[in-house]
Amino acid sequence: MLNLLIQILNLITMVKPIPYGRQNITNDDIKAVVSVLKSDFLTQGPEIAKFEEAFAQYIGAKYAVAVSNGTAALHLCALALGVKPGDKVITTPITFAASANCVRYAGGDVAFADIDPETYLIDIKEVEKLLKASPKGTYQGIIPVDFAGRPVNMEAFRKLANEYGLWIIEDACHAPGGYLTDSKGNKHNCGNGDYADLAIFSFHPVKHIAAGEGGMITTNDENLYKKLQLLRTHGITKDKTRFSNSIELANGQQPTANGQWPEWYYEMQELGFNYRLTDFQAAIGNSQLKRADEGLKRRREIAEKYNENFRDKPYIFGQSGVVEGHAYHLYVVEVKDRKGLYEHLRKNKVFAQIHYVPVHLMPYYAQFGWKPSDFPNAEAYYQKCLSLPMFPTLSDDEQNFVINTIEEFYA
Ligand SMILES: Cc1ncc(COP(=O)(O)O)c(C=O)c1O
Repeated sequence: MLNLLIQILNLITMVKPIPYGRQNITNDDIKAVVSVLKSDFLTQGPEIAKFEEAFAQYIGAKYAVAVSNGTAALHLCALALGVKPGDKVITTPITFAASANCVRYAGGDVAFADIDPETYLIDIKEVEKLLKASPKGTYQGIIPVDFAGRPVNMEAFRKLANEYGLWIIEDACHAPGGYLTDSKGNKHNCGNGDYADLAIFSFHPVKHIAAGEGGMITTNDENLYKKLQLLRTHGITKDKTRFSNSIELANGQQPTANGQWPEWYYEMQELGFNYRLTDFQAAIGNSQLKRADEGLKRRREIAEKYNENFRDKPYIFGQSGVVEGHAYHLYVVEVKDRKGLYEHLRKNKVFAQIHYVPVHLMPYYAQFGWKPSDFPNAEAYYQKCLSLPMFPTLSDDEQNFVINTIEEFYA
């Protein structure tokens, strides 16, 4: 009876549903977009370059290339690194499908390695086992994912990758602002290119920076940077220093004026795509980037409060205690009776989520022979995982409501 009363009271006071993640659009964001809409450039204007420069600086990488979404970023990374049919690339089964799909887009084969049950990240020991089991040269690359915002130990992965001659794409979609502390005590921002060849980010609405859609690739490698710039826009360049046809051909076989390239001339040098970001999306990105640290601080506060409340609860486990450098895109826990709790939360308008259905269990990947029981840690995690609401504008009252609703379920 008392429970019912609490529930009714909860429902009256909490009319607004609480999702697991939500964008925060401010008046400044709106002003930034409107100003682009009133300008001469809707795409390929000044906001893109500004966003690339500011993002590279925020992450601490030399170069950044803005693209239309995180999936496009992964696709271009696979192409820039030369993935081709027959290549084999290792990633985690606990990620969004795009981390694996990019290998398939380029015709390569995906190999999965199980997760560490403590961190939920790809287990380096499992990767090493895979590498050791085949002759060197069997695998070409690794795509570790900073899942939920927790930094992968990229220092250790670089060492392993060097031993086997592999490239690394860091999928840092969940981790802008996250950092790794290396074996000497130095900090390395996720995606800053100290260890990975390329790193990618997404600006989907539930992410730290929400531009509607959008993505970014960061790197310290100038050659890869130049290649990515080409691939993003049809493989076309207008950079005279990169032209390979003759000036005469460019001029339509007309005599050249002082050996000048005509203004209109461009060359398509690679088979690229239209994966450009628009200027108004870049404007939201620029505006939101200014609040990135504030948002991260709030995410960490929310995580600490969950940690404190769940520390001694026997029905909720995993991810408790402070994790250094965690960017908390998600607050993931493992729980008893996950389905029961999920439904109870939904009844109370708390929309927790599951991240993720293991990728190797997706029907598409069954054709390559992946099947249940291939990755016991990932599958055990999937039976119990739940992502609780985690976004900077989650109010204290809302978070208390989430915690109380969980406690009420197990009471
Ligand atoms: C880990 C991870 N990688 C890649 C992506 C793909 O990003 P996008 O949705 O921007 O294409 C996502 C997005 O949800 C993601 O979470």
